[in-house]
Amino acid sequence: MDFRNIVLIGLMGTGKSTVGSKLAERLGWSYVDTDERIEAEAGMRISEIFAERGEAGFRQAESAMIEKTLKGMSQVVSTGGGAVLDHRNCEAMLRGGLVVALTATEETIIERVRYDQNRPLVNGNVEERVRSLMEARRNAYDFAHVRIDTTDVPVDAIVVGILSRMG
Ligand code: S3P
Repeated sequence: MDFRNIVLIGLMGTGKSTVGSKLAERLGWSYVDTDERIEAEAGMRISEIFAERGEAGFRQAESAMIEKTLKGMSQVVSTGGGAVLDHRNCEAMLRGGLVVALTATEETIIERVRYDQNRPLVNGNVEERVRSLMEARRNAYDFAHVRIDTTDVPVDAIVVGILSRMG
């Protein structure tokens, strides 16, 4: 099968950036992190965008960035964990390439995001907030073509797993 792009989705802390950049390197494709592009365009960190424009303002920028990015090809695109909340983004992803959902256990996610100051949705009581995001988004990533667990799996093995699903 011939895919234009690979789109990584999943909750924060499931390894999208780490896996995405390695995968892009292996394929010789470009790596795009939509959160980083949003920050560069706005000239602000994600946490500042949330503080100044609210979550709704961030979501608007996120949807525009996803639409714009997925017009391109030969890219590994890592998306923010909440990008799937707007079904139009999901449709754009499915049209734009192979959609891969990364998963991890609650404990793994908590450990991976615990000290990150730039993730406003889990500021404060990390355990509690990760738990409630997992619950609220329980089925949100099910539309992916492929689902891969990253808990205790070395990045190289995850990359090989995704490559093998590209056909
Ligand atoms: C969010 C996840 C973040 C970022 C923003 C909102 C979410 O991206 O887009 O803080 O709603 O889950 P990561 O999944 O890369 O942390």
